[in-house]
Amino acid sequence: MSVDRPRPLVAGNWKMNGLRSSTRVLEEIHAGYTPGLKAKVELAVCPPATLVGVFAHHAVGSRVAIGGQDCHAKESGAFTGDLSAEMLADAGATYVIVGHSERRQYHREKDVDVCAKAVAAYRAGLTAIVCVGETREEREAGKTLAVVRKQLRGSIPVDSNSHNLVVAYEPVWAIGTGLTPTVADVAEVHALVRDELRRLVGKAEAPRVRILYGGSVKPSNAAELMAVDNVDGALVGGASLVAADFLAIAGAYLG
Ligand code: 13P
Repeated sequence: MSVDRPRPLVAGNWKMNGLRSSTRVLEEIHAGYTPGLKAKVELAVCPPATLVGVFAHHAVGSRVAIGGQDCHAKESGAFTGDLSAEMLADAGATYVIVGHSERRQYHREKDVDVCAKAVAAYRAGLTAIVCVGETREEREAGKTLAVVRKQLRGSIPVDSNSHNLVVAYEPVWAIGTGLTPTVADVAEVHALVRDELRRLVGKAEAPRVRILYGGSVKPSNAAELMAVDNVDGALVGGASLVAADFLAIAGAYLG
């Protein structure tokens, strides 16, 4: 572990799950976010948009950050069904995930769209969690590093720094499948991300940008994954819906 390692972030991406009754889960997370854990790791929960305001209200004083899962690039306008970064900020969010592979796949978002959304996040004062990751076919074809490099270069805005940007490496084939890359594979991709960050945000800022790993992170594999060089936290899907599991993943940082 290098000395200037940034404060880790464990973020939960609830995807399209959660009703107002799920506030109970957030309360359980608050209750388990002990001073000892707070000292070691930052927690964020990204619920569906309908719950961002509710959760932000409940999270006041708990220091659990709240984030959105996507935003539109524009501040306002005739975009039925969309949400701006300003609206998320107004509702109390401090983070927003952009470029998740499910957005890239189901909504055909390209790197240029993801970059515009990250710019919108910065404009609204949010920290963007920019997601990248290869498909199974790309990995099997030996293209992982090239794919991730291209996504980073296309998706990360020029005015990024360690305050407004978090990168999440999520191999598409590891999401929701129970499969994870080997520790060596995670280390290889995260080293590439760090290297690219040196080009994109400069040598001084690059070491401070958090690079999260995501894809089937569970209490049973969190310690091993979080110990990998250049892994500064996790972006957790399914396991973040259960407070005890989410807290146990964050607990990997208690050592
Ligand atoms: P799972 O943790 O359910 O694999 O999801 C990962 C993810 O997509 C987080 O953004």
